[in-house]
Amino acid sequence: MNITKFEEEQLDELILFLDENLNENYERIVFLNIRKRWPEGFLTVIDGGKIVGTCCGAILPNDKLRILILVLKDDYQKRGIGKDLIERMIKASEIFGIKKVTLEVRKDSDAITFYRKLGFSSVDVLPCYYQDGCDGIVMEKQL
Ligand SMILES: CC(C)(COP(=O)(O)OP(=O)(O)OC[C@H]1O[C@@H](n2cnc3c(N)ncnc32)[C@H](O)[C@@H]1OP(=O)(O)O)[C@@H](O)C(=O)NCCC(=O)NCCS
Repeated sequence: MNITKFEEEQLDELILFLDENLNENYERIVFLNIRKRWPEGFLTVIDGGKIVGTCCGAILPNDKLRILILVLKDDYQKRGIGKDLIERMIKASEIFGIKKVTLEVRKDSDAITFYRKLGFSSVDVLPCYYQDGCDGIVMEKQL
C-alpha cells in the first residue's frame, strides 16, 4: 500500500471510488481544480494498483487548511490510515504557515469521534448542509 499525489489520469477511477464510498456527488472539474490549486494537498491511497482511499484539501486565507474530502474503503478503515492522511496534509501545509485546520462532517457521522481523537473540536452547525438534508458540523483544530 502506498500514498501518492493524485494525478489527472486517476480521475475516472477516483470518480468511481467516490461514487461507491461517499453519498455526495461532485462534478469532475471540481477535482481538477482542487489539484491545480494545491497538488501536494490531494492524496490517494493505492493498494494492488487500485484507489482505496483519498484525502484532499485547500489552503484558505487567514492561514487555514480546509479538509475537503477524506474517505477510505471500508476494509481499510481503523488501521491508522485516516490519521496518517490528516498528518500528511498538515505537514504539507506547513510551508503556508497554517495555524488552523477546518472541515465539515455530517452530524450523524462516526467520523466526529475520529476527528475528536485527532484534536478537532466542534465549533459550528450548518443546517441542511448535505444533499440529503443532514446538518453539517464544522470542526476545527488549532496548530
Ligand atoms: C473517518 C475515517 C476517514 C477515519 O479513518 P481511519 O483510518 O478509519 O481512522 P484511524 O484508524 O486513523 O483512527 C484514528 C483514531 O480514530 C478512531 N476512529 C476511527 N474511526 C472511528 C469511528 N468510525 N468511530 C469511532 N472511532 C473511530 C480510531 O479508533 C483511532 O483511535 P485510537 O487512536 O484511540 O486507536 C474513515 O473511517 C472513513 O473513511 N470513514 C468513512 C468516510 C467518512 O466518514 N469520512 C469523513 C467524512 S468528513
